[in-house]
Amino acid sequence: MTTTLDTQWQDRAAGLADTLTELGKLTDPDWQAAVRAVARHELVPRFYTQDTSGAWIESDTSTQHSRMAWLDAVYSNKPLITALQRDTDPVRVLSSSSQPGLMTRMLESLDVHSGHQVLEIGTGTGYNAALLSHRLGAGNVFSVDVEPDLIDLARTRLAALGYTPTLVAADGALGLPEHGPFDRIIATCAVPAVPWAWVQQLRIGGVVLTDLKVAHGAGNLVRITRTDTDRAEGRFDPTYAAFMSLRHQPGGLDRTVTWAARDTTVAHRWTSTVDPQTPWNSLVVWFLAAFDLGPDVSIGYTGSDTTSQPSAVTLSTPDGSWAQIALATADGAHQVTEGGPRRLWLAVERAHQLWNRLDQPGWDRFGLTVTPEAHTLWFDHPDGDHRWT
Ligand SMILES: C[S@@+](CC[C@H](N)C(=O)[O-])C[C@H]1O[C@@H](n2cnc3c(N)ncnc32)[C@H](O)[C@@H]1O
Repeated sequence: MTTTLDTQWQDRAAGLADTLTELGKLTDPDWQAAVRAVARHELVPRFYTQDTSGAWIESDTSTQHSRMAWLDAVYSNKPLITALQRDTDPVRVLSSSSQPGLMTRMLESLDVHSGHQVLEIGTGTGYNAALLSHRLGAGNVFSVDVEPDLIDLARTRLAALGYTPTLVAADGALGLPEHGPFDRIIATCAVPAVPWAWVQQLRIGGVVLTDLKVAHGAGNLVRITRTDTDRAEGRFDPTYAAFMSLRHQPGGLDRTVTWAARDTTVAHRWTSTVDPQTPWNSLVVWFLAAFDLGPDVSIGYTGSDTTSQPSAVTLSTPDGSWAQIALATADGAHQVTEGGPRRLWLAVERAHQLWNRLDQPGWDRFGLTVTPEAHTLWFDHPDGDHRWT
């Protein structure tokens, strides 16, 4: 017997597939069929939004009206926050169901073929594992999440939909060696470097698709192919995307960085023509600069003494280096003060100059080579003139 909810979700799933197709984020008939077939609402029975005060509100399904609003949201092209850690201040987001259009774009870019074995890092709600299971058969799908509770929920909900992929609670940075080799590895969390374990667990010719963020906001999706036993190589995606960071433990922040005391001596005072908003406005420049500055570069605003408005952008690194760049300009230039062992804003300015010299290239002009020893970023060609290691 077909219930009302059955027809309601099926119409909405078909509508989502149509929307993603119109947006150009879903072109492959097999993935279109998967989006139509997977009951995302069974995997996302609730989600959280923030009200204007910043408090987290759980989606409401208690009335017919609120239930329809929840169903509409579940079948819209929006990311949904699905797990919170509430005993921290502020509350931390532990998991989300990623934006469907981003997921389908990544799945298409993954270029799977029947019989491929795929490992997903970051199970979350299990929606992506369900799409993969629909397309490849659950026996070919492996998915790992660092949160055991999420794995338990996903396993139960996926089984209720008839999908039984192999789900494991573990640190996905290690891959899943006991189930490899894989043809494809897709990560729906961001890594500061591609773990060599992932490359090792790929067949030659296999692909890793992941979000590489070498520092906060600095990086993008990259698709690398294992070309040899000791090498994987490929390009960045043309469109910027950002996932939550991989963490090695359930909950909690597990990266501890030791910060040297800030060297307060002003070593350099100069003017820069580069807008201090550059890290946010020009993410390719920020990526190039962050490659130089390291994973723990911190960026923020500092206020003026007389107004509540920010007056400068600040950069700092754990070695005690810092830079302050005035937002206001005098004759088109921003006052910069820097101290500590390294010239932080100079690194951004140099990255900006290089990007201009290269004719302001987009992400897809850049590529990455990963070996057991190093990550090498390159422009246009792996053996070209511009390489960063
Ligand atoms: C954006 S969510 C994944 C969305 C998911 N693919 C879906 O379809 O709902 C990112 C997930 O990565 C997980 N994660 C973070 N660090 C991890 C790690 N070291 N290994 C595996 N999963 C991890 C988080 O717990 C979170 O569930």
